[in-house]
Amino acid sequence: MTKQIFFDTKVDNPGERAHNLFMKKKAVYPGSFDPITNGHVDIIRRGLEIFEQILVAVLENPKKKSLFSTKERVAMIQEIFSDCKNVEVKAFHGLLVDFAKKNDAKMIIRGLRAISDFEYEFQMALMNRKLDPEIETLFMMPSLNYSFLSSRLVKEVSMLGGCLEGLVPTEVEKNLKNKQKSAPKTKLI
Ligand code: PNS
Repeated sequence: MTKQIFFDTKVDNPGERAHNLFMKKKAVYPGSFDPITNGHVDIIRRGLEIFEQILVAVLENPKKKSLFSTKERVAMIQEIFSDCKNVEVKAFHGLLVDFAKKNDAKMIIRGLRAISDFEYEFQMALMNRKLDPEIETLFMMPSLNYSFLSSRLVKEVSMLGGCLEGLVPTEVEKNLKNKQKSAPKTKLI
């Protein structure tokens, strides 16, 4: 049996592969983050226990309707992690694997909350592997407290005047309230 059966990348030395993936000590954590929730924050904090540097990559997609602009989403995350020099935040467009490569990261982190996330995440991870076999996806589970949490639900609860305590960082809560005041309610979700 050859090592190729287990490793479908060019690297056929498992030690070297582990070194490439982890010892670079930098991982990309991509997402829409519209807005960032405590579930995302939890994944970033867990990621920092494995990697020295987490690069939060905020998707810039003019075709996708978002509540917060790319600039606002980036600014909120920067504010939340302003005291943490190990977290960098950048907007990106185009292919995620290209962004990761350009930023010298070999690992993509994704949070997995429930089985319902799995199929989409599985497809994305395998597509990214097809596009760049040297980049690996690492799935991390958030705290059970956040396993029901999503940006979409947060926006809905905010629009309907529900309590967001414990679901989003205070900076985000403040910005959601401002959006609620300034925008017609129908535009919030
Ligand atoms: O928070 P989201 O919306 O689930 O994040 C999705 C994201 C940003 C990770 C995904 O849409 C993405 O990677 N977009 C970049 C385009 C890309 O690389 N597509 C091919 C791989 S599926």
